[in-house]
Parts: sequence; C-alpha cells; structure tokens
Amino acid sequence: MFINIFFLLVMVAVSVLFGWLARRSWKTGNVVSKWAGTILSGLLSVLVGLLSILTVIGLVKAYAPRTAPIPDLNVAATPEQIQRGEHIANTFCTSCHSLNKALPLTGGVDLGLDIPIPLGNFVSPNLTPAGPLQDWSDGEIFRAMRNGVGRDGNWLFVMSNVRGRNLSDEDLQAVIAYLRNQPPAANETLDPPDRLSLLGLIMLGAGMLPAGQPPVTDVIAAPLKGPTIEYGEYILSYQDCRDCHGENLLGGTDQLAPIGPNLKLVKGWTQEQFIVTLRTGIDPLGHEIDPARMPWKSIGRMDDEELTAIYLYLSGLP
Ligand code: HEC
Ligand code: HEC
Repeated sequence: MFINIFFLLVMVAVSVLFGWLARRSWKTGNVVSKWAGTILSGLLSVLVGLLSILTVIGLVKAYAPRTAPIPDLNVAATPEQIQRGEHIANTFCTSCHSLNKALPLTGGVDLGLDIPIPLGNFVSPNLTPAGPLQDWSDGEIFRAMRNGVGRDGNWLFVMSNVRGRNLSDEDLQAVIAYLRNQPPAANETLDPPDRLSLLGLIMLGAGMLPAGQPPVTDVIAAPLKGPTIEYGEYILSYQDCRDCHGENLLGGTDQLAPIGPNLKLVKGWTQEQFIVTLRTGIDPLGHEIDPARMPWKSIGRMDDEELTAIYLYLSGLP
C-alpha cells in the first residue's frame, strides 16, 4: 500500500509539472512551439491526473474497512463434523490453499501469478492451527468464508469472489471444525495476504475488476447429500466451475480465470467415463487435462455420490 501511495504522489507531481509546462508553453512567442507545447503538456497533465484519480478511487475501494456480521458461533467439532469438513477441504479448498493441492491447508499459493495481467499478489494463507487462524474466533472464520472479510475488517480479494460463500451454514461449520483439528504445519505466508499493484489499483478504480459480492446474512441450507441433480446443483453452487466454464457452463469467454470448454460435451460421456476423467485427469479421448488450469486433482477426490450428482446435473444442461 505504501509503495502505491508513493507512486500516487509521483503521479500527482508529474501531472502538476505537465500542467505548469503547458502554461509556460502558452506564454512563449513562437506560434508552433506555443500550440504544440501547450496541447502536448496539457494532454499529458490531464492523462496522468486521471490515472491519479483512478488510483485514489482504487485505494479507497481496496482499503476502506469492510463490514459483515460475525455470527455468534462455537463449533462443537464432533467427529462427523471434522470428517465432513476434511472432505470439503480436500475436494475444494486444496485447489488454492495448498502448493501440492493436498491436505493440510498450508497455503502459500500466489493466485496473482496465474492471472495474465500483473494485478498484484494474492497469497492463500496457512489455514492450519500454526497459522494466523489460531487467533481468530469461529465466527470470524465463518465471516471470512461467507463474506470475504478478514479479521481486521480487511477485504479478502479472492475469497469475496469465490463461490465458497454458498457452502451451507452446516458445511461451513464442518470446515471450521476441520481447520481447528488439522495437524499444525508452519508456513509463513504474505501478511496481509493481498497486495494490489499500481495497475491493479487503477483497474479497480476504473471498475474493471470485481469488487466482491455484497454480504450474505441469510441462513444457507444444503439438500440431502446423494446422487441427485439437486445435490449436483448444490456442489456447483460452491465449486468454481462457472468462473472458468462460463456462467451457464457453455464455455468461458473473457475472464481473468482460465477459460474452460463447454461442459455440454459431458453429455457424450457415460457416468463411468466422467468419473474416471475427473479422477485421472485423462478424458475418454485420451486428452490429458492440465492440472494448473483445471483443478481436477481436488475435484476428483469427491466420492462416487458427489461425482454422479455433478454428472447428472451436467448431462441435464439445456
Ligand atoms: C480460488 C482460490 C481459493 C479457494 C477455492 C479458497 N480460498 Fe481461501 N483464500 C484464498 C486467497 C488468495 C486468500 C487470501 C485473501 C484473499 O485474497 O481472499 C484466502 C483467504 C482465506 C481466509 C482468510 C485467512 C487469513 O489469514 O486472512 C480463510 C479463513 C480462507 N481463505 C478459508 C478458505 C476455505 C476454508 C476454503 C474452502 C472452503 C477456501 N478458503 C477456498 C484463495 C482461495
Ligand atoms: C480454474 C478454472 C477451472 C475450474 C474452477 C474448473 N475447470 Fe474444468 N476445465 C478448465 C480448463 C481450462 C479445462 C481445459 C483443460 C485442458 O484441456 O487442459 C477444463 C476441463 C474440464 C473438463 C474436461 C473437458 C475435456 O474435453 O476433456 C471437464 C469435464 C471439466 N473441466 C469439468 C469441470 C467441473 C465439473 C468443474 C467444477 C466442479 C470444473 N471443471 C472446474 C478450467 C476449470
């Protein structure tokens, strides 16, 4: 943040300097240099001034404290909850919160490196009891996952845009139970976890980046777990398939996330072929799916019931 404020001051100074040069050119005698100098310096002054304004708006959007209620929560952490939470962490959170895409959730993945534009660093924190969460309450962890707000009211750029917020209240509590009961593993990660670059701030100021979802305060319930279309729909509400494969799953278009193909192709596969594809990363045509762009390693750890539910949901796409 401080380096960006420094850049901002430089930009303001440059803008003023060009403004002064424009005035000076205007006062010179020679007609050509008068007009050329005034117009050129004037335009540069306005341009750099505009970028400074966008940077200020970006700074306000990025660093103004965010609010969302902290539920009064004390997760009992029964064995069933821990097991369910471990399953969700394993099949979803590992795709971002683990360098080797496996438990425990030691973090350290810089999602900024996967984005083709240098927007900054977004480093997933260590979620094991050796990381910062040891000082958080259960309610604060719940709020971070549901509404993308950090312990100090800081905006969690990525979390506020992933669909994990649609996990049911019960599932989020199960995840918290597991986070508390993971083996502690030391791994120092960037703190605070987000560091927007100057370009990131300017784009945020210009409204070209997602600014996070508005807070959700309603209770979210999940349908009964089973191999049903309904449960498949629930899984796709919290997994990020749509961020890459498009809002209607008919293929991604222009987006920061990797562009995934039209998932209607699944209709041509049997249920068995679909499950094998997501477990092995090799589709029925022998094509190897790139694990860096498509998180099949996490998704493929879902059980037969869950993968069948996704298959049924996808093969019913209009
Ligand atoms: C798409 C990648 C992605 C997924 C999926 C994801 N996270 Fe995150 N998470 C991040 C990043 C990056 C951060 C750092 C702050 C930010 O940018 O949101 C973060 C921050 C957090 C924080 C705040 C911790 C702190 O110290 O500030 C918590 C808690 C958290 N994640 C929990 C989870 C859990 C639990 C899951 C699975 C249910 C999950 N996340 C899924 C990328 C992800
Ligand atoms: C981070 C982006 C991303 C997410 C999240 C994601 N995908 Fe993908 N997916 C891709 C990309 C990119 C490819 C193509 C990869 C390749 O061919 O190497 C792909 C490929 C696939 C394929 C194989 C297509 C083929 O022709 O072999 C299937 C099936 C699939 N995704 C289903 C899903 C489902 C279901 C989910 C959610 C549970 C999901 N994906 C989540 C990006 C993503």
